[in-house]
Amino acid sequence: MLSISVQGLTKRFPNHLATDDLSLDIEEGQFVVVLGPSGCGKTTLLRLIAGFEQADAGRIHLHGREVTHLPPGARDLGMVFQSYALFPHLSVADNLQFGLQLRRVPAAERKQRLAQTSALLGIDQLLSRKPAQLSGGQQQRVALGRAIIGGRRIILMDEPLSNLDAKLRQDMRREIKTLAVKLGITVVYVTHDQAEALSMGDVVVVMHEARIVQVAAPATLYEQPNSLFVARFIGSPPMNLLPLEPSAHGLRIADTLQPVMLPAEPTNSSASLTLGIRPEHLWANPAAHHPQWQMIVDSMEYQGSDSIVNGHLGPHALAARLPGRAQYAAGQTLQLGWNPQDLSLFDPQSGKRLDNAAPTDFLHRSQTQEDAPCNVVIS
Ligand SMILES: Nc1ncnc2c1ncn2[C@@H]1O[C@H](COP(=O)(O)OP(=O)(O)OP(=O)(O)O)[C@@H](O)[C@H]1O
Ligand SMILES: [Mg+2]
Repeated sequence: MLSISVQGLTKRFPNHLATDDLSLDIEEGQFVVVLGPSGCGKTTLLRLIAGFEQADAGRIHLHGREVTHLPPGARDLGMVFQSYALFPHLSVADNLQFGLQLRRVPAAERKQRLAQTSALLGIDQLLSRKPAQLSGGQQQRVALGRAIIGGRRIILMDEPLSNLDAKLRQDMRREIKTLAVKLGITVVYVTHDQAEALSMGDVVVVMHEARIVQVAAPATLYEQPNSLFVARFIGSPPMNLLPLEPSAHGLRIADTLQPVMLPAEPTNSSASLTLGIRPEHLWANPAAHHPQWQMIVDSMEYQGSDSIVNGHLGPHALAARLPGRAQYAAGQTLQLGWNPQDLSLFDPQSGKRLDNAAPTDFLHRSQTQEDAPCNVVIS
């Protein structure tokens, strides 16, 4: 059964369209990460699902039951906020039990759930403390405990780790994911941190300007971004994006003599193309006959396990991720190998991904005008 189903969800604030016709189905037990830049509507989507906002259009079903117009308390889900939202005057134990007390859960059951949940989260030694006497990570655990103590099957989390330092964030990511799998709960987790999204999500929902632009498994999102927006948003440094142009000897990077061979014959009919390649799909000093470009080196960023070499091909910036401590001087020419199957192609007008499909009129024009093959096809 679907755990969460959202259809055509639209929310308009007085001066702003915050979510625009969002539709999304989430399976029971999935860990779904909603990712997107600040202001794209992530929190609004979560608040609509939770019932803190009412949609202007669209419907929400939780476990097959329509909840579109039900108040938050009747939706049977838990929520973890960025700010933790703990009651400062209550102890950890009372914060954890607060929802159970509201629902008049008998004392014996409350006690049992409190013991179970606090042991699960490693906060059983902190039960008598007040929130101000806890570290950020401990407060976050209490907030998490409060969401799961009631045995709810759906938990919504809005940037729950953003107040924590980098190391603790990493530990908590693992903890939250492990906990979710262990409990078999459905989680919708909002973040603008792509590393968090890729490492935690079974499915990642990418939002941009109030709309959902891609829903995919992390590896698909990374390897096959469906648009220029996603290609730029995911990856650090992001995917290199380079305009192409036809030439007498086939496609090449615009305003350069650098050749481009596509893995399959292109099929779209647009007149121009943008090529994408991840920095780690480039390597230094390939064999002489391997496809390669000549990059002029601008700068280096040493990152420990690898180095980012920034440079340019003609007027276009290019970044390569090379293993270890790469050392090249600014101005040096570096041969960079690449494989045709690692290339992504986009239509620069629509911004959409083309499935290794370049424009046929490109081919056609080039062959008739210059009587030379436009495209070397390597499979
Ligand atoms: N109550 C409100 N009244 C008016 N506009 C709002 C309200 N809540 C949100 N907005 C606007 O709706 C848009 C989406 O906001 P939302 O909080 O959903 O973004 P977000 O993706 O969660 O961003 P962030 O990553 O910064 O938290 C923003 O432009 C915001 O200013
Ligand atoms: Mg937000």
